Amino acid sequence: MSNSIKISYNNSNFEFPLIEGTENEKGIDIQNLRSKTGLITYDPGYKNTGSCKSNITFLNGEEGILRYRGHSIEELCSKASFVQVAYLLIYGELPNENELLVFENDIKKESIVDEDLKSILKSFPKSAHPMGVLASLTSALIAFNPSSVDVDSDYEMREAIVMLVAKFPILSSWAHRKIKGLPLNYANTSLSYVENITQMMFKRPNEDYDINPIVVDALNKLLILHADHEQNCSTSTVRIVGSSQAGLFASVSAGISALWGRLHGGANQAVLEMLEAIQKDGGDTKKFMAKAKDKKDPFRLMGFGHRVYKNFDPRAKIIKKASDKVLDELGIKDPVLDIAKSLEDEALNDSYFIDRKLYPNVDFYSGIIYRALGIPTEMFTVMFALGRIPGWIAQWLEMRKNMEPIGRPRQIYTGLNKRSIS
Ligand code: SDX
Repeated sequence: MSNSIKISYNNSNFEFPLIEGTENEKGIDIQNLRSKTGLITYDPGYKNTGSCKSNITFLNGEEGILRYRGHSIEELCSKASFVQVAYLLIYGELPNENELLVFENDIKKESIVDEDLKSILKSFPKSAHPMGVLASLTSALIAFNPSSVDVDSDYEMREAIVMLVAKFPILSSWAHRKIKGLPLNYANTSLSYVENITQMMFKRPNEDYDINPIVVDALNKLLILHADHEQNCSTSTVRIVGSSQAGLFASVSAGISALWGRLHGGANQAVLEMLEAIQKDGGDTKKFMAKAKDKKDPFRLMGFGHRVYKNFDPRAKIIKKASDKVLDELGIKDPVLDIAKSLEDEALNDSYFIDRKLYPNVDFYSGIIYRALGIPTEMFTVMFALGRIPGWIAQWLEMRKNMEPIGRPRQIYTGLNKRSIS
């Protein structure tokens, strides 16, 4: 295979190097395109554009493969805890016994937030969406931890990483408790990371709270499956905000806002709302399939389709199996699960979806499990963010360690030419 590509333009010939990744992904290195040819590329949504080289996550959209630092998500879901996967993504290897113990203890030590953050929380109305509350509280963490972090200091970076991993579940649970009008819970260092997430979200002040291992196991898998996904919209946001040398917390806060959108992480909430609307409308899935295919109708089958997966999202397969297991173990019969399954069956046999390679994605079944675990719909995207924290940290760190240039895309100007005030 040639290691360069030739372009002829304006009676000149230009040559650009081809680069190849460790999984045979090939790209044209166009870093000198404009200086050599005067041309730029045009690629709305960056569908064909690689923004970086990365060692963190590999996915193959055609074959439905997803690996974190070379480990498959299938293997990690069956053998690892979310904290171990967080360590893997951030530091590149699964922790040994001692590294895990130290990491978990460091997280426990930091699993407390400044009481003054409550006054910021108090200023939100109960009607606030928890993603907006969470983005603000995450940004506010900067005010309570103002020292700018030296990326080259492993000690300072470790501090900031542990702080974010430790405090994010507290802020997430507080966002939930606020909108429910419930008193805020604190982390309990005798519990595991995922056990703490459940007790901080659900423990009522007037009752004991029994940790449910089925809920913890399902949540552990869901957090692992959401932990990273290469250069998706919110991760690209974290990277580009960090490329201006904004801090880790500010960059993650921007990522939370990007994830909130219904075409991205907000889709899990939109899927449940869609399934409930279909159920309310009498459960006629064929009617909604027709709406999804009607170009004049803005309705889309939420939880279906993906920018990269043109086959089954491997995460959706695991979550679909887990949803059956969780509902069965918890003795829950959820009619929207049946609606989801019939939508999936119809779509998988419909030429519109087949031709466009539209399959269920990570968001299609996750909401059904979250609901079975007692998590309210408006908190589904917060659960996605909780999982994505280690991925955002790892990607931000890689971008800063590689000293990548500030992100600043070009444009093709199509506005008015020079004119004077008449
Ligand atoms: C996530 O990128 C990531 O990795 C994200 C994520 C992660 O882990 O970070 O995986 C998480 O965001 C998953 C995706 C969640 N979003 C949804 O479920 C929302 C519904 N899906 C779509 O809006 C859409 O599929 C996107 C946004 C996910 C992808 O859109 P693309 O790649 O820009 O594709 P497109 O919009 O150009 O669609 C191509 C065709 C179009 O039809 P034609 O113009 O070719 O006739 O497919 C159609 C679209 O109309 N289409 C759909 C559809 N998704 C695409 N038609 C009906 N229902 C849908 N859901």
